[in-house]
Formats: sequence, C-alpha cells, structure tokens
Amino acid sequence: MTEDLQRRFAEERYLADEGLLTAVHLALSLGRPLILEGEPGVGKTELAKVLARTQNRELIRLQCYEGLDAAQALYEWDHPKQLLAIRSCEAEGRPVGDLYADAYLMERPLLRALRTPCVLLIDEIDRADSEFEAFLLEFLSDFQITIPELGTIAAVEPPIVVLTSNRTRELHDALKRRCLYHWIAFPEAERERAIIDARVPGLADEAAASLVAAVTGVRALKLIKPPGIAETIDWAQAAKLLTGEGAPWPLALRRSLGLLLKEAEDTDVVLEHAEALGL
Ligand SMILES: Nc1ncnc2c1ncn2[C@@H]1O[C@H](COP(=O)(O)OP(=O)(O)OP(=O)(O)O)[C@@H](O)[C@H]1O
Ligand SMILES: [Mg+2]
Repeated sequence: MTEDLQRRFAEERYLADEGLLTAVHLALSLGRPLILEGEPGVGKTELAKVLARTQNRELIRLQCYEGLDAAQALYEWDHPKQLLAIRSCEAEGRPVGDLYADAYLMERPLLRALRTPCVLLIDEIDRADSEFEAFLLEFLSDFQITIPELGTIAAVEPPIVVLTSNRTRELHDALKRRCLYHWIAFPEAERERAIIDARVPGLADEAAASLVAAVTGVRALKLIKPPGIAETIDWAQAAKLLTGEGAPWPLALRRSLGLLLKEAEDTDVVLEHAEALGL
C-alpha cells in the first residue's frame, strides 16, 4: 500500500512518515482533496511538488493571499487584446469576430487545473478570505465552472488536490469535511537524520548526529519560531561549508545559527542552553 509511495517519494529525496503516507494513499484512492497543516518548513508545499513528479502530472499552484478573488483564481478576459482586435478590425474594415472566444481567455490556475490532468496545489489557503474559501468549496465539490460566455467547463480528469495551511486562522468545517486532513508534525530524530543524509550529502556522520540532536533540543525550548526541516537543512549546509573552511565543530554550528533561527530572542534562548544542546 504505502511502500510504493514511500519508495517513489524517497527517490525524490522526500522522506515521509507512515501517517503522511497513509493520508496521501487514501486521498489518491478515494479521490479526496488533502489538507495539510503544520508549522512552517515541515514539507507541506514540497509534498505537493513531489506528488506531481511521482504521479507524472503537471503541478498547478494557486498561491493564496488576502484579497484573492474567484476571477484571479479562475480566468480573466484579456481586455487589452480584445481592444486591439476591435481596433485592427475597424482599421481594416473587417467585421469584429467573437471577442469572448478562447483566444481572449486568460486561464488562471483553477481553470487550467480543469483542462489539464494535474496536481493542484492550493497553497496557504488560510491567507485567503473566507469568501474565497466558500467559493473553493463549490469548485472542489463538482470540479466544473460555468463561464457565462463559453458555457460549462468540466474537468478532463479530476485534479489531485493538495491544500496547505499554516493555521493562521481556522478553516471552515465545511471545507475540512470535504477533504482528508493531516497535520504534519516535526519529524522524529531518526527521520530528520535520514533527510539530512539525503539532502546534505557529505556531512560527516558525527556532525549530522549532533546537529539533529541539537535541533530536537532546540524545538523543545519555548521559541517564537521553532525551526522546520527546511531550516535544519540550511543549517546543515552552512555548518558543512564552515567546517570545510576549517571552522572546528561545534563552533561551525554556533556560527551558522542564523540559518536555523530567525528571531533574535530565539537565538538568545538557544545560546543560554548552548552547552546542553552541544553547541
Ligand atoms: N519530509 C521531507 N523530506 C525531505 N525534505 C523535506 C521534507 N520536508 C521538508 N523538506 C525540505 O524542506 C523544504 C521546505 O519545505 P516546504 O517549503 O514544503 O515547507 P512548508 O511546510 O510548505 O513551509 P511553509 O509553511 O513555510 O510554506 C523543502 O524544500 C525540502 O527541502
Ligand atoms: Mg509552503
């Protein structure tokens, strides 16, 4: 069941735990959208990218933001192009043809996702307004839209949908009900180590072990922004670079803390515990 997914993800250097693999497996088998929530940098967006590659589908991404409305997500008419067509027809004395034809339609991610077999990533849905979420609910339930001038367009193949949220606000129950929900937690040390090995080849064994132990310890402290996997990878790369240039271990780790922590207060807290963390 999930072994095959796990292997294909690992080939893309994405190491997922059993919980996430099962969620993906079920979402694919049941044809349900998958909502992924979790702290920044735990691999929500990356999962959609990897899924698209392993399913041999195009990745179509809708990045959400405050004020995003249905038109920006679906389609817009290319008014300048329509105007140009009118002008040139008038100049040449030709009749103006159909101005609401496909040639003047600018596809936005959701329309494109109906016309192409794809993985549709609706990224950071919590940033969009709740009206947009309501609209999305409709879109996700029938995978079709009606363009007044063109008629109804149904999906050539239902897209595989991944929604992500950083939980800056709660998502509507109605949306969650339609989807499969999975919380991506920080990885356990063993998996994080495997991720470091896959993503930062050439880092010495001992260095990787102490780095992963330090990250686990750092996350247990009360920080404003606990580091995600992305930050661990960056930190490992920086520490590898500095040791390559001759900085002794663990000084290299301490010097490159700026890649792990992004708040001055957090750095202070970590430095207070430097010894216990092996830094
Ligand atoms: N399970 C994993 N295996 C391998 N690499 C991972 C994994 N999870 C995350 N990463 C690495 O961390 C990086 C950041 O992950 P990603 O951008 O998906 O985080 P995110 O959860 O979407 O964060 P944000 O909420 O800030 O958007 C990825 O590009 C990838 O290099
Ligand atoms: Mg993301």
